[in-house]
Amino acid sequence: MFAEKVLSGMRPTGRLHLGHYHGVLANWIKLQHEYPCLFFVADWHALTTAYDEPGTITQNTWDMVVDWLAAGVDPAQATIFIQSRVPEHAELHLLLSMMTPLSWLERVPTYKDQQEKLSHKDLTTYGFLGYPLLQAADILIYRADKVPVGDDQVPHIEFTREIARRFNHLYGREAGFEEKAKEAVKKLGTKRARLYEELRIRYQEKGEADALEQAHAVLDEAQSLSHGDRERLFGYLEGGGKMILAEPGALLTHASRMPGLDGQKMSKSYGNTIALREDAAAVQKKIRTMQTDPQRVRRTDPGDPDKCPVWQFHQIYSNDAVRDWVQQGCRSAGIGCIECKQPVIEGVLKEQEPMRERARMYAEDPQLVKSIIADGCEKARKLATDTMRDVREAIGLDYS
Ligand code: TRP
Ligand code: SF4
Repeated sequence: MFAEKVLSGMRPTGRLHLGHYHGVLANWIKLQHEYPCLFFVADWHALTTAYDEPGTITQNTWDMVVDWLAAGVDPAQATIFIQSRVPEHAELHLLLSMMTPLSWLERVPTYKDQQEKLSHKDLTTYGFLGYPLLQAADILIYRADKVPVGDDQVPHIEFTREIARRFNHLYGREAGFEEKAKEAVKKLGTKRARLYEELRIRYQEKGEADALEQAHAVLDEAQSLSHGDRERLFGYLEGGGKMILAEPGALLTHASRMPGLDGQKMSKSYGNTIALREDAAAVQKKIRTMQTDPQRVRRTDPGDPDKCPVWQFHQIYSNDAVRDWVQQGCRSAGIGCIECKQPVIEGVLKEQEPMRERARMYAEDPQLVKSIIADGCEKARKLATDTMRDVREAIGLDYS
């Protein structure tokens, strides 16, 4: 079996906050120990909406990369790179655009949604319509199996699967495919070959899904097959050609539980964030001045944690004992709000300590960050080049 690959991208929004950490980065950091991972800055995607403010993208990219590293994304485990430094993404995007029906792009829900949301901006552009196709190219060029995303991005993954299927259907048939497939069947050995043929016929004639599944298992066990033959035999099962681009699956990231300082979702546009590498004094000040239960005006008024954003922070940062202390103390006016906030301040500072430390190291040595990215781009580019060779050949653009 080939190890499954994880890929995800983020548009460069500049410095990240704790909402990004709890929502996305913590998940990436976990995944990097479990799979080969590719994480990249989607700077071209940023241009689809920020085409009239190009001056912001570079700095936002470096700030975001430092935050990834600070949070614990580990360049020794994951490949970290910048989309525009791997121009093969653009080539695949272009080639896919030839076979992508306009109607598929127009019906992706984010298209109309974002146009309405960003109505101050003219987004009736060619590039913005192609946003999901560029994303599909990002994913397909690495033959990624799993794409961790939030639920707003699921339609883009579904779209990517449709594009992969269409591509394989249109271009997956190499010359002499049947003959090559039959040759490959023989290489399975007599017993396996007979079983494979039986299952293939059962699937093709009767559409039995478990026959297909069993045949996949047979191929998974056949260790000695070359990559090309394996692909052919997967394709042959479904009557089609070679699978050139792999269909990815979404790996749903649960929505961040991180509330903002005002109890709404933490978001830059609400101005209620704590930055990932906010300095300690600012963190203290922000939490000390946080809104509490509005009914609790005086120290002697009892309060209700359910109406207080500080309580939401306790749910992330405190253990059961502290939470009991808050519930009791708040409802009986036994503790004051400043007292109640202290463990939260400590929890946030403790979480940020290693991040601040790593951020300092990277901020002091921009060359280190650049070399991490250069390294990542080079690794990514190798993978992308391999896929593009197959893609060009399949489409009939092979001048070698
Ligand atoms: N569209 C994604 C977002 O806004 C960013 C992105 C671009 C991406 N290309 C990707 C995510 C490929 C996953 C895979 O969050
Ligand atoms: Fe909020 Fe704590 Fe004050 Fe209660 S005591 S209102 S939970 S800050």
